[in-house]
Formats: sequence, structure tokens, C-alpha cells
Amino acid sequence: MNPLLSLLQPYPFERLRQLFAGVTPAPEYRAISLGIGEPKHPTPQLIKDALANSMDGLAAYPATAGDIQLREACAGWMDRRYGVKVNPATQILPVNGSREALFAFAQTVIDPSRPGATVVSPNPFYQIYEGAALLSGATPYFAPSVAERNFAVDWDSVPDEVWQRTQLIFVCSPGNPTGAVMPLSEWEKLFALSDKYGFVIASDECYSEIYFRDEAPLGGLEAATKLGRTDFKRLMMFTSLSKRSNVPGMRSGFVAGDADLIKSFLLYRTYHGGAMSPTIQKASIAAWNDEQHVVENRALYRQKFAEITPMLSKVMDVALPDASFYLWAKVPDSLGMSDTEFAKALLAQYNVTVLPGSYLAREANGINPGAQRVRMALVAETAECREAAERIVQFIQSRT
Ligand SMILES: Cc1ncc(COP(=O)(O)O)c(C=O)c1O
Repeated sequence: MNPLLSLLQPYPFERLRQLFAGVTPAPEYRAISLGIGEPKHPTPQLIKDALANSMDGLAAYPATAGDIQLREACAGWMDRRYGVKVNPATQILPVNGSREALFAFAQTVIDPSRPGATVVSPNPFYQIYEGAALLSGATPYFAPSVAERNFAVDWDSVPDEVWQRTQLIFVCSPGNPTGAVMPLSEWEKLFALSDKYGFVIASDECYSEIYFRDEAPLGGLEAATKLGRTDFKRLMMFTSLSKRSNVPGMRSGFVAGDADLIKSFLLYRTYHGGAMSPTIQKASIAAWNDEQHVVENRALYRQKFAEITPMLSKVMDVALPDASFYLWAKVPDSLGMSDTEFAKALLAQYNVTVLPGSYLAREANGINPGAQRVRMALVAETAECREAAERIVQFIQSRT
């Protein structure tokens, strides 16, 4: 077996199952989970119709590069959303959701024969970054994102000698779990570091359409364009329909950026078998070409977060994020509990599941930046989220 497999950490939900083993949730409450970050708003009818009406083409193998019509639809969306011009022939590739693409991209980029191959990741982070780094033969290095810096990743904490051996960095903006959006100044810093040390930037932007401020989150390619880097050198963005269009089951997204990286990634994907089904391609074209359902979806999240956040902020340190569908809340010190103890006791007493923050981060330089926090995914309908929030308030009040 590949020995690198043994380096993989259990997934947060696996750890949660172990944590909850033996806990009997209070039977008088029906179960509500804020644990998994899976969209639950209904899939728009126009996407279902496009799927149902796109059954032709299944008798042929699809091209790994995807139909040019799909890549043109993606490029059109990039222009409307970010004012960014990308060449659909050379700077875009369809992917089967951003998760597989983030993983496969690391396998394409990393040269494990170079000593000390390193991948820099935010901490806390989406666990695929770590697995992708480890299976490519690299070592992850974690840069903390903590409340004291408003959850901006502390890239300055990465020592020079680490940057020197860094081949790839993952950026997650809007962030999971913090919801923080990277400003232009931070992009400028990362581009300068990439120019100096030669590493590639993988920008995970799958929450870009769920935001709470007036201004839509800045994209990586948008930042590059603003700074005159229109060749997107060593930059790749990853986006997805999963959250934007409530279709995580469709497995559809795309990457865009540096044409040289796209070329290598296409080669890798050809062998890996990363082509997208023609049915999904056609439904994806319909989804990227429609913005109305995205506006409506965002309005639902805004309404929900506007109601739930103040309920919880009365009893715990939690604020409306810039974007994403998570609340990243602090376990009140007055409870004298760790994040895992909090999650366990909340389940036992009120049958509500939240994800312990320490499961989403790693201890680095003596601190786990996820410790004492919990992630709540407000993905269910508002009434269910409201009920969960009421129970959390009662839980905290009952313990203080
Ligand atoms: C930060 C982040 N990136 C990527 C993904 C993967 O999404 P998908 O593969 O559905 O595009 C997720 C899913 O939860 C995520 O939270």
C-alpha cells in the first residue's frame, strides 16, 4: 500500500461520530444538525429541467477539457461577476466539484523530489488541503487565522526558510470555517511572496456567492487583474456550483487561471479520468448563465443570518461573517468547557449537533486555533436554525 495513506487524519465527521459514541441525545428533542456544511436549500427548477432535458451524448466519452460551450459559459460568468477576462480555450477547465480539483491540483503541482516540499495552508482549514499535500509527498505548514486578527490568515508568521521550500499554498476566501474574505492588500502580499519564492497559489472560492456585506467577495483572479497580473502567473482559482446553486450532488465546478498550469492540470486529469458527464455539463451551462436563483439563494441566507446571529451573540462571542454559511462561535469561558465537551453536552441535553473547532484545525506552534470554537452551518431552513439557536441559548443559560 501507499505508505502516505497512513499519514491521513480522520475526517472531522468521523471524529465527531467517535466523540458522540455512547451519548444519548435527549429524547424529547428532535435532532437538529448544524454540523455538516452541505447546502439544504432546494435545487432551482431550471437546473433540474436542464438535467432532465440533456440526456443526449451519453453514448460518447466526454473530453477532459469539457465542451467549449461550458468553458464559454464559465468565462461569461467570470466577466459578469468579477470583470475578469479569461480565455475559455486556454485558461478554464471544468472539474467535478472543487474538492476533487483541489486534491488533484496538488498532485499536479508538487515535485516531491525537491527537498522539503511544503504546502502552506490556513489553520483552521478545509481538510482536503492537508490530505492533498500529504498524498503528493509534501508536508503541510499551517498559518493561523485567529479572532485577534479578525480571522485574517497570518501569512507573516510563516518563516522565510519555510517559504523557500514552499511549492503550493492554499487560500480559502471566503474562508471555511471563519467566513473571512481576503482584501486586495493581502493578495498583493501573497503575489509578492509567490514572485519571490516561486510557489503556486490555489485559491478556493466556493463560498463566493453567499455574502452578507454590500460588496461581493473579491476573487483571486479579480485581485490579480486589479494589480495588472492579467496572465495570472502561478495562480489558479477553484469555484463550484455546489453552494452557489444548491447542487452539491451534481459535482460541478471549474478552475481558471494561469494557462501553463491549466495545460499541466489537463494532462494530469486526462490520466486521472476527470472528465465531466455531458448531462452535467449542459446543466452547468444553464446554472452559470442564470443569476436570479443565486440572488434569491443569497437573500435566504441573509434573512436567516440576520435573525439567528443576534440570538446567539447574546450568549456567546459570535459575529456575522463576511461570507459563507457558517457561524464560527466561541465557547463561553464561563462554561469552563472545551469545544468538544461543549458539542457533546449540547447533543446530550438538546439534541443539536455542532462541529468542534479543534477538529477543523491542527496544533501548530503550541496552539490549535480552532480550539474553544464551534462551527455552526446554517444550511437548514430558518425555522429549524431558529429552533437550534433557541436550544443553544437555553443550553448556555442553563450552565452559567
Ligand atoms: C472550503 C471548501 N472548499 C471546497 C469544498 C468542496 O466543495 P465542492 O466539491 O462541492 O465544490 C468545500 C465543501 O464543503 C469547502 O468547504
